Amino acid sequence: MIKQFIGDYNKQPDIRLTSDLKEVLFDKNFTKDFDAYYMYRGVKENDGLRYDVTMIPFRMFGVEFPKTKGHYHPDDYGEVYTVLSGKAIYLLQKEDISDVYAVFAKQGETVIIPPHYGHITINPGPEDLIMSNWVSPEFSSNYTPVLEKEGGCYFFTEDGWIKNSNYKDIPELRFEKAQQEKPEDLSFLK
Ligand SMILES: [Fe+2]
Repeated sequence: MIKQFIGDYNKQPDIRLTSDLKEVLFDKNFTKDFDAYYMYRGVKENDGLRYDVTMIPFRMFGVEFPKTKGHYHPDDYGEVYTVLSGKAIYLLQKEDISDVYAVFAKQGETVIIPPHYGHITINPGPEDLIMSNWVSPEFSSNYTPVLEKEGGCYFFTEDGWIKNSNYKDIPELRFEKAQQEKPEDLSFLK
């Protein structure tokens, strides 16, 4: 399945295990260790931007839906995600936690991560999620703020969205729509 999206990419993917995510999981007692997601970084490059493919299997983290660890970008770097297969929820939270929103996206839809928004991708199932992203190769992601709070502002669980009590004041979660088309000009990512 993944092969059709990574072509002749011949590196091993970077694998994040559930044990690598333990600090950010809703259920602190969740101890099962398995592959949480696969990152195929640098499947291609174009015009100074890198194209990655990530696969998040649909395997629950206890009552919490599978997700990425979550990070911020430095400076004014954004990112453009497109769902290649399955469904995704992108949880975005502004650095100063003045704004938190979620975007549901299905196959073919695109979500833009604006600068200064931390982001977490959730697989709401029931299929495995495969998504791509275009991003500048010029920076390293910052995982510290999400790690310090032991997760994003909200956890997406079988009981719906649950606020992370490690944040003091969290705005109500708002929802945005995904975009139907990927922007043709991605130079704003550089
Ligand atoms: Fe990112």
